[in-house]
Amino acid sequence: MYELKQTCSTTKARLGELKTDHGSIQTPIFMPVGTLGTVKGVSQDTLIEQIKAQIILGNTYHLYLRPGCDIIKEAGGLHAFMQWDLPILTDSGGYQIFSLSDIRDLDEEGAHFQSHIDGSKHSFTPENVVETQRILGSDIMMLLDECPPYPSSYEYAKKSMELTHRWAKRGRKAFLETEPLYGHKQAQFGIVQGGTYKDLRIESSKFMADQDFEGIAIGGLSVGEPIELMYEFTDLNTDYLPKDKARYLMGVGTPANLLEGVARGVDMFDCVMPTRNARNGTIFTKNGRVNIRNAQWKNHHDHLDPDFPSDLCSKYSMAYIHHLIRNNEIFGLVLASIHNLTFYLWLMEEVRKRIADDTFGEWYPGMVEQLEQRI
Ligand code: GUN
Repeated sequence: MYELKQTCSTTKARLGELKTDHGSIQTPIFMPVGTLGTVKGVSQDTLIEQIKAQIILGNTYHLYLRPGCDIIKEAGGLHAFMQWDLPILTDSGGYQIFSLSDIRDLDEEGAHFQSHIDGSKHSFTPENVVETQRILGSDIMMLLDECPPYPSSYEYAKKSMELTHRWAKRGRKAFLETEPLYGHKQAQFGIVQGGTYKDLRIESSKFMADQDFEGIAIGGLSVGEPIELMYEFTDLNTDYLPKDKARYLMGVGTPANLLEGVARGVDMFDCVMPTRNARNGTIFTKNGRVNIRNAQWKNHHDHLDPDFPSDLCSKYSMAYIHHLIRNNEIFGLVLASIHNLTFYLWLMEEVRKRIADDTFGEWYPGMVEQLEQRI
C-alpha cells in the first residue's frame, strides 16, 4: 500500500505514496479531521479545490452514535453519505470513549461506555469496531486500542499496552475474516502504545511491526507530556518500524510539531488544531501564530499575507477578519478554518518539495523557529 520514494540524507524524513482505491496520497501528509462526516465549516469542494486535502478523518465513536450505522449503511457508506470520493481514515473510537463518555469501563472483552449524548450503554470490542468500520467503508481503519493517560505508572502502561496487543491480534483476525461492503479495498493500521517508557515503546513498536498491518500508527502521545518527550518517543518508535509501511502520528499537532515529526520519520498526521483554533481566532502563518481577536488588529486595514492563497490572507483585511471573529460571525469562523487547513496542507507540500530536492534537513530548523513565533 505504501511506496517509499526518497529519504532525506540528513534526517529521517521520507517521501512516499500511499495507494487506496479512492486515490493516492502523497506523503508526508496532514489529514483534516471530519469527526462527524464533515470538516467543521468547510465544504467537500473547498477541501479538494482550495485546501488540496488528499484524505480526511472520520470517527467511529461519533458516527456510530450519530447518525448510527443503519443510516450510513443505507446511504452506501460514509463516502456516499457525505459525497466525498477521496480517501477516508477512521479512528476506532477507543480514544474518544476515554476522552468523551461519562462512564466507561475496560475489561479483556472491550470498552464499555455510556454515550455522552443520551447516556445509553454501548460496548466496543476489537471485533465490532472492525464491523462498524466496514459499514463506514473507510479506506483505512484503526484498531481498538487503549491510550493510557499521562502520567501513568509503569505497571499501568505495561498492562494497558499488553491489552492493546491482545486486542490488536483479535482486531486483525476480525479484519481478515470479513470483507469490505462497497467494492473498494480497506486497510487496517496497528497502533503503538507503551506510555512514556522506553522499553515499552520499543516492545510495542516491535510487536506492531511483526503483525501484518498495512500501516502503523504511533498512539498515546500528545496527551499532556512535555513536547521533548513526544519527540523522543516518536524518534524511538520509528527506529523500530518497518521502512515499507506508512507511519501515522495520531493527534499531532502544531505546524512546528509536524515538521519535527517528519524529521523523525512520520508520514501522516491529524489534529483538530487548525479548525478548533481557527474558531477561537488563532491563525497559522509562515511567520508564526496570530491571534486575530487581539485588539491590535482592530484598525489594521492591510492583508495578513498578500502572497498566501487564502481569502483570509489576501482578499480581506485583518480589521475585517478581527471584526467577524470578535462577533463570532459564521463567515469569519469559516474563513479562518479554511485558511488554517490551507496553511497546514501548504506546509506539507513544502515539506515534500524539500525532501524531493534534499533541502529538508537544512530548511526545517529555521522554519520551526519561524512557525513558533507569536505575532
Ligand atoms: N488519537 C490521538 N491519540 C490516539 C491514540 O493513542 N489512539 C487512538 N485510537 N486515537 C488517537
